[in-house]
Amino acid sequence: MTQEQTIKNTVRDRYGARARNSDTANCCGQSNVDDLLSHGYSREEVRQLPESAIVMAAGCGNPTALGMIRTGETVLDLGSGGGIDVLLASKRVGMQGKVIGLDMTKEMVQRASDNAQKLGLQNVEFKLGEIEEIPLEDDSVDVIMSNCVICLSPDKKRVFQEMFRVLRSNGRLAIADEVALKPFSKEEKANSDKWCSCSSGAITGLEYVRGLEEVGFTDVLVKPLQQGDGYSTSGVFSAFVSATKP
Ligand SMILES: C[S@@+](CC[C@H](N)C(=O)[O-])C[C@H]1O[C@@H](n2cnc3c(N)ncnc32)[C@H](O)[C@@H]1O
Repeated sequence: MTQEQTIKNTVRDRYGARARNSDTANCCGQSNVDDLLSHGYSREEVRQLPESAIVMAAGCGNPTALGMIRTGETVLDLGSGGGIDVLLASKRVGMQGKVIGLDMTKEMVQRASDNAQKLGLQNVEFKLGEIEEIPLEDDSVDVIMSNCVICLSPDKKRVFQEMFRVLRSNGRLAIADEVALKPFSKEEKANSDKWCSCSSGAITGLEYVRGLEEVGFTDVLVKPLQQGDGYSTSGVFSAFVSATKP
């Protein structure tokens, strides 16, 4: 098995356990309303969510608020987890639009689908699959959002290429992610606990900008979202990454 496959399997196992509620220690414990408010969700947004979506949230920002999603658009959420951002985007796109959540962990896809059903949402769909091989057609999406997921991928170049492929011309990226203050060492990258907790898999802001530009994105911007204690202790900071496909 390649190192990349090992990382992916470890990430999948961790988030599968989290979805089954048996691993709240390693990959982000259960979230509460205060966590969501501190990540930029409004009280009004939080009120729309079932408790089962709140506890499963594991993001580092609020891409739905940052992404300026419009009525009628097709939105894709990479690594949708318990579905929080898909549920919120559903209202923004309305019945003429569609929101697709993609996650490689089947327990998360099940959780997210249950949450959408609780809210009776008709315009959302959750797919099982990997962000390195997005199961969608070329030029089929208006906005790609993602919340604390790309830092977990062992092949970011492939993720960037896939995002570019499935976006329509003028399509936008609205990503909240962990960004490294400086490149992590080989040893840190090999530490699966650090990787799975959205730390040592992160790339620097410059690597993010260059990586997205290399595959064709323009207007690339990496903007820090907050400066908390995690800044100095974990070597990463939360950022909003935006870009356009020309
Ligand atoms: C930190 S959680 C974030 C979940 C969600 N975005 C949120 O804000 O609550 C990471 C999620 O990404 C998924 N994931 C990680 N790597 C992935 C990959 N390569 N392809 C698809 N999903 C992935 C995990 O299964 C997990 O559900």
